[in-house]
Amino acid sequence: ILAILFTVIFSYLFGSLNSAIIVCRLWKKQDIRDYGSKNAGLTNVLRVYGKGPALATLLCDLAKGVIAVVVCRLLVHKVMGVEFFGDPHFIGYLAGLFVMLGHCFPVFYGFHGGKGVLLAATTLLAIDPLTCLCALVVFAVLLAITKYVSVGSIFASIAYPTFTFILQNFVYKDNYAVIPNTIMGVLICILIISLHHANIKRLMNGTENKFGQKKKEA
Ligand code: G3P
Repeated sequence: ILAILFTVIFSYLFGSLNSAIIVCRLWKKQDIRDYGSKNAGLTNVLRVYGKGPALATLLCDLAKGVIAVVVCRLLVHKVMGVEFFGDPHFIGYLAGLFVMLGHCFPVFYGFHGGKGVLLAATTLLAIDPLTCLCALVVFAVLLAITKYVSVGSIFASIAYPTFTFILQNFVYKDNYAVIPNTIMGVLICILIISLHHANIKRLMNGTENKFGQKKKEA
């Protein structure tokens, strides 16, 4: 119980340090949530402020996702000596889910944050790089074909639990937490898709922003 509580609270609070909001406040003295798609995430930072702030956001989110997973794993497995299902991945997935909840609903910024796609990728990179690579390929192919980041994000989020299940079940055969880990992936997928409701509406009426388009106002 203590290990679960620590993972949930630490990951949520750490995730609440939303990189896009912090970078744009420090760099541009503006709230990214007032511009572009109004999303506090990498795509919108790139769209509104360009490559410099976007690179800073990318690096901060990369560090945030990896640190959250590594810290929780170290403390739970090495310091507390707790194992769940005899599985090395489970605490990582739990940390991944709550760091994303913090990122999307940050307690420090009025519960209005990003859509969690980059955070899902960076936490997955720390948990299971091969599954992360598979989801990234899905993202890149769909972005290249459609030029919509949101389409890539939605299908990559579906690929997340799909590849978690396939790889853990059929490739890493010593993994005992396939079902709990897949459930965590499904929750992350549902969270990402539900946060894309405005993008889905724009895609349906043909007004979604294409990758590379600059846009200052929503
Ligand atoms: O990762 C977020 C992306 O899928 C869409 O971002 O700013 O176009 O709503 P945005």
